Amino acid sequence: MIKMTNIVKRFGEQTVLADITFETYTKEIFGLLGPSGAGKTTIINILTNQLSADEGTHSIDATPFETGLMLDEDGLYVRLNCLENLNIFAGIYGISHKKSMEALKRVGLESDAKKAVNTLSRGMRQRLAIARAILHEPKVLFLDEPTSGLDPVTARGIHKLILNLRENGATVFLTTHNMDEAVKICDRVALLHKGKIVEQGIPTEICHRHNAVKTVPDLEAVFIKMTGVGLE
Ligand SMILES: Nc1ncnc2c1ncn2[C@@H]1O[C@H](COP(=O)(O)OP(=O)(O)OP(=O)(O)O)[C@@H](O)[C@H]1O
Ligand SMILES: [Mg+2]
Repeated sequence: MIKMTNIVKRFGEQTVLADITFETYTKEIFGLLGPSGAGKTTIINILTNQLSADEGTHSIDATPFETGLMLDEDGLYVRLNCLENLNIFAGIYGISHKKSMEALKRVGLESDAKKAVNTLSRGMRQRLAIARAILHEPKVLFLDEPTSGLDPVTARGIHKLILNLRENGATVFLTTHNMDEAVKICDRVALLHKGKIVEQGIPTEICHRHNAVKTVPDLEAVFIKMTGVGLE
């Protein structure tokens, strides 16, 4: 569904992605797990053609219209309300404004539709950004750190939503530095450190491979074993 082969990206002297190769399958949740600066956002930017790579190839099995994207800078219009924000995008996509309210319902913001973005809590704003990304019911959805900075309850709500999107047939590509999140919701993960993938596969299998299952699978232990550093 999403494929990267031997991707290299340099910014000046710095090589930020070194020979990245992975593939995601249809209708799975694929997690890119790595600490700050590992190159996660750069990978999403390349996959969504916002940035060009220096070497290698990549492809997505979906048109730009069939792709949804939520980056860490949410780019919402802060003085407009939730519904108005989504309606602008519905206009861009050429879809009915009815879809805006449907998307708000899916993220649990229907009763906040008339609230201005600058009056929302962080978690509400994050959910609105997700609503915007799923407005046109994309086949492939990129979520850059969808739960960063959220409390566990709000994060769980977003996990449910992501699982629900997969149930409805979407392929979700997300980034995180939260290994619990990766183990809980991702079908497969790639562990990224300083622009290199150090491990990839099914979270529980990765943990078994590295003897990192005591009571629960511990991806962070694998990460530390492979890189010498933690994920946060
Ligand atoms: N436009 C740019 N110009 C120069 N260097 C950049 C640029 N964008 C990213 N980098 C560098 O590339 C590396 C990877 O950055 P990236 O944003 O992909 O990391 P990340 O894994 O998303 O981190 P975080 O978890 O903090 O969001 C960092 O060292 C960063 O400084
Ligand atoms: Mg990032």
